[in-house]
Amino acid sequence: VKVAVVGAGLIGRAWTVVFARAGFDTAVWDVAPDATEAALAFCRARLPELAAAGLLAEAPAAVLARIVAAPTLAAALDRADYAQESGPERLEQKQALFAELDRLAPSDAILASSSSAIPASRFTEALAGRARCLVAHPANPPYLVPVVELSPAPWTDPEVVRRSQALMRAAGMVPATLRREVPSFLLNRLQAALLAEAFRLVEDGVAGIEDIEATVKHGLGLRWSFMGPFETIDLNAPGGVADYCERYAPGMAAVVREARPPSWSPALVEMVDAARRESLPHAEHAARQEWRDRRLMALLAHKAAQPE
Ligand SMILES: NC(=O)c1ccc[n+]([C@@H]2O[C@H](COP(=O)([O-])OP(=O)(O)OC[C@H]3O[C@@H](n4cnc5c(N)ncnc54)[C@H](O)[C@@H]3O)[C@@H](O)[C@H]2O)c1
Repeated sequence: VKVAVVGAGLIGRAWTVVFARAGFDTAVWDVAPDATEAALAFCRARLPELAAAGLLAEAPAAVLARIVAAPTLAAALDRADYAQESGPERLEQKQALFAELDRLAPSDAILASSSSAIPASRFTEALAGRARCLVAHPANPPYLVPVVELSPAPWTDPEVVRRSQALMRAAGMVPATLRREVPSFLLNRLQAALLAEAFRLVEDGVAGIEDIEATVKHGLGLRWSFMGPFETIDLNAPGGVADYCERYAPGMAAVVREARPPSWSPALVEMVDAARRESLPHAEHAARQEWRDRRLMALLAHKAAQPE
């Protein structure tokens, strides 16, 4: 399998690790030559850490040997089976980049976008090859968080969706496929619902930030690392989902009825930001991101050792 990573920022460089780790020949290209170089340096630094955490099946050098910095977009796409676009989250830029990808890629190559929120129909409608385009949205960073949301446009060939699912599984990812396009797909919609409620609880003075953090990290989040919301409620009532809904749906409905979005006013954002900066001074932000990644690696190793 040959893959082109187009756009080598935060997400493109992380995809490079995913594809090369899976045994795919991976060509990386970015408009900014510095970004391509930085992506290679990132892979050189990260692969030994993954190996140390037991998350790499072979030596880092063997994985690195499959990664090349392409001098041009055309070179990156040469004989590619699949292209993963990770350029800026701007509609005009996605439209321009996909026009180039469709012009330059082999006619049977799949063209996928990492877009976090923009459905594929917004930037592929006018393309001759629009049937081979879709969104493949990862979480950050994709080499540690395996879900990838596949969101086809109405005109995406179902065979392209099936091939993308198979390629992602072969890459060690877990595809979650949408049946119909919605902005922000699944992950960010679910996250938006939780964040809206969390900001509103703060805005209304119901609880402080540390108590909301504790509720998720010592409560909901523990279960969510191995079950989704439906399995969670299924196991929370002796008779399963129907029993749970009979007991608790009226209460949930009341919460949802009274819910309104928080203001996200400057004062509210400042309050949350100030609390976070008190817990985590800005100077320690990057170190804490590395801590998060180490915790994710440990959790992944733990999950891999558990029976399903
Ligand atoms: N950051 C996240 O948490 C996250 C998570 C999932 C998906 N995404 C999505 O991934 C995409 C990339 O986001 P990011 O966080 O990596 O941004 P980023 O700014 O780190 O990287 C974007 C890269 O695209 C390059 N670029 C700009 N124009 C280009 C062009 N015409 N051709 C090729 N490369 C070009 C830039 O030089 C830069 O290196 C966006 O669509 C974003 O919504 C981001």
